[in-house]
Amino acid sequence: MRVHIADHPLITHKLTILRDKNTPSPVFRQLVEELVTLLAYEATREVRTKKIQVETPVASFDGLNLAHPRPIIVPILRAGLGMLEGMVKLLPTAEVGFLGIKRDEKTLVPHTYANRLPDDLTGRQVYIIDPMLATGGTLIDSIDYVFERGATDVTAVCLVGAPEGLAALEAHVHGKDVKLVLGALDEKLNEDGYIVPGLGDAGDRLYGTAQ
Ligand code: URA
Repeated sequence: MRVHIADHPLITHKLTILRDKNTPSPVFRQLVEELVTLLAYEATREVRTKKIQVETPVASFDGLNLAHPRPIIVPILRAGLGMLEGMVKLLPTAEVGFLGIKRDEKTLVPHTYANRLPDDLTGRQVYIIDPMLATGGTLIDSIDYVFERGATDVTAVCLVGAPEGLAALEAHVHGKDVKLVLGALDEKLNEDGYIVPGLGDAGDRLYGTAQ
């Protein structure tokens, strides 16, 4: 697995405001969108392209176009929805599928409760977006899910990760074509499965506590 941990002052600046417990939801949502657009720039570095030629007003130019089949973006409900706008800004022609995965608050074991993805993902490049890489369980389940349906490579984009989740993911996807792009790698998980220092419950901070 290839791991890219962002190292950019603008990303750290925006993440610092997200981490602040006094940042209200509207500002939080806006910053998540901006942050994802910055992370998506790195995440899409290997997006498939094909060569095309265009005519400038002056001469011919050999350029690139996004290749088919189109990439597919998969936000993990519900917190991943907050990252969707930022991602489609950079990949406006991508298709979007949804996976609803929730972790049990006691056991922290994830279970899938919703799926709006094509059954056949043969040859597709998939971008999974989920703000928090905590135990890694949700991401592992979603990566397995898309590979089982034929996806060829998966890039996961998370705002904040814990070393425990990163290690679990690395062990699980060993040998598969997976890239992980993180805004920051934090210190640890606490006994409730929250990332420390983290930013709290990403879904609640984006959308409040009504579920
Ligand atoms: N999910 C969250 O929203 N926050 C965490 O810190 C861990 C998992």
